[in-house]
Amino acid sequence: MFDLEESPGNIMDMTEGNSLHKSKHDTGSVGNTDDGQKYDSGGVSYDFSCIYSKDLLPAEDGEEATKHFLQELVNILMAHVSKSIKRSSKVLDFHHPHQLKEGLEGFNLELSDQPENLEQILVDCRDTLKYGVKTGHPRFFNQLSTGLDIIGLAGEWLTSTANTNMFTYEISPVFVLMEEVVLRKMHTIIGWKEEDGDGIFCPGGSMSNLYSVLLARFHLFPAVKTHGMSAIPHLALFTSAHSHYSIKKAAAVLGIGSENVVLIRCDERGKMLPSELNARINEAKIKGLVPFYVNATAGTTVYGAFDPLNEIADISEHHGLWMHVDVGHLINYNYHISLMLSMALKAHSVTWNPHKMMCVPLQCSAILVKKKGLLQECNQLCAEYLFQPDKHYDVSYDTGDKSIQCGRHVDIFKLWLMWKAKKKSQLAHPLQGSEGFEAQVNHCLENSEYLYYKLKRRTDFQLVFKGKVAPKIKAKMMEEGFAMISYQPLEDKVNFFRCVFSNPATQREDIDFLLDEIVRLGSEL
Ligand SMILES: Cc1ncc(COP(=O)(O)O)c(C=O)c1O
Repeated sequence: MFDLEESPGNIMDMTEGNSLHKSKHDTGSVGNTDDGQKYDSGGVSYDFSCIYSKDLLPAEDGEEATKHFLQELVNILMAHVSKSIKRSSKVLDFHHPHQLKEGLEGFNLELSDQPENLEQILVDCRDTLKYGVKTGHPRFFNQLSTGLDIIGLAGEWLTSTANTNMFTYEISPVFVLMEEVVLRKMHTIIGWKEEDGDGIFCPGGSMSNLYSVLLARFHLFPAVKTHGMSAIPHLALFTSAHSHYSIKKAAAVLGIGSENVVLIRCDERGKMLPSELNARINEAKIKGLVPFYVNATAGTTVYGAFDPLNEIADISEHHGLWMHVDVGHLINYNYHISLMLSMALKAHSVTWNPHKMMCVPLQCSAILVKKKGLLQECNQLCAEYLFQPDKHYDVSYDTGDKSIQCGRHVDIFKLWLMWKAKKKSQLAHPLQGSEGFEAQVNHCLENSEYLYYKLKRRTDFQLVFKGKVAPKIKAKMMEEGFAMISYQPLEDKVNFFRCVFSNPATQREDIDFLLDEIVRLGSEL
């Protein structure tokens, strides 16, 4: 029933017979787009000025008002969705923090003592979107989660409507099983055997990485769970100088200490140097530290570099370290296969973050663990008010004790729904991805190749070694609001633009626009 079968699911079937009703009232509407245009709300409006939240369900006779309120909200959201995708609209309407705090055209962030009527509440919803950033806009190149996947959006709405918690099967029977199905699919794609593979969804890649360090430490030194750090040796872990800062943060949070994270030098493309890794592990041992973990990044945050996984795996095996792979970016099909194969054979854990290039709405990230049962062993505390062992169903589906959280948001449904809705690959390869996601990722890669091709041919761009050009151009870009891109320095390089491609809406014309915009704004400096 929950299987991600080989044909895209028919989403229409799920909404059949569920059309929204129209109101008899016609006494004014807040249904305006943020540029003052009336948008289509089915030719119907409703007077919300004397209705308050107390009049909505579960109030007696609250159904009509609730229906109209939600319909109006959908109109506001729809107007935002349509605008987000239009090149003629701005990516953002930038204001400084003090301007937003002072209040703009009736948009007031302060909380009043009296309840606001629903007309004001709807205006607040509209204004919240108006003064935010349209991350789904084709000219949003900033980091990192971009794109506006409509099925994902539907998934998020449904999730909030269900408003349940992932900790037990008792209250999330459907979502718990969906998580199992999706995790199994992920294990298959990685190539783990049927008997291997465990995992859990958690709030982001940083949390997934934290889990990996936690699990590695517990695996090697189980006493740490009950007796703490004083019961175990002085540990050291290893990651590349270009890896994400969450590895260092995990060491700090877990009491290992950020100073005990050894940053391994990279080559000029940002890939970890295996010989350096080996040398630094030996060095740590000589200093009396106990090396226990290495993180290899498959798609680093800034360069998108892939660490040499096989060599790193051999070194970690030789020294008896836990190997984690942080999959920062997905890559094209052929590379994907070789990457997945090496992960399958050697990695103990993998971070897979669908809220990045797969464009699943935030948040959605998984920690995948090869050894079954380890997550449970490491984290379970068997709270009797939640995980009673004598429930009348199979309590192995009460997966909440695998988590370091108690309450856990349902992040799985939107991913499951998006996966269902994607076109499936015709290739009968066991490592095949889903063609829909694959095409989406390949489109982003083509965009980045196009940017590289164009940059090489343009004479109005040059390498900058001094100065503060990128921040100044970005500031002007944000104030005008037609595009958005990030910048940063790195090692010996001064600030450079960091262009992120994960938005399926972005086309070549947007890349051309971005380059012209950078030149235009730069020439005005
Ligand atoms: C390689 C890598 N790992 C982990 C993370 C952290 O992910 P999140 O922002 O979901 O916590 C990032 C974010 O940019 C990343 O690039």
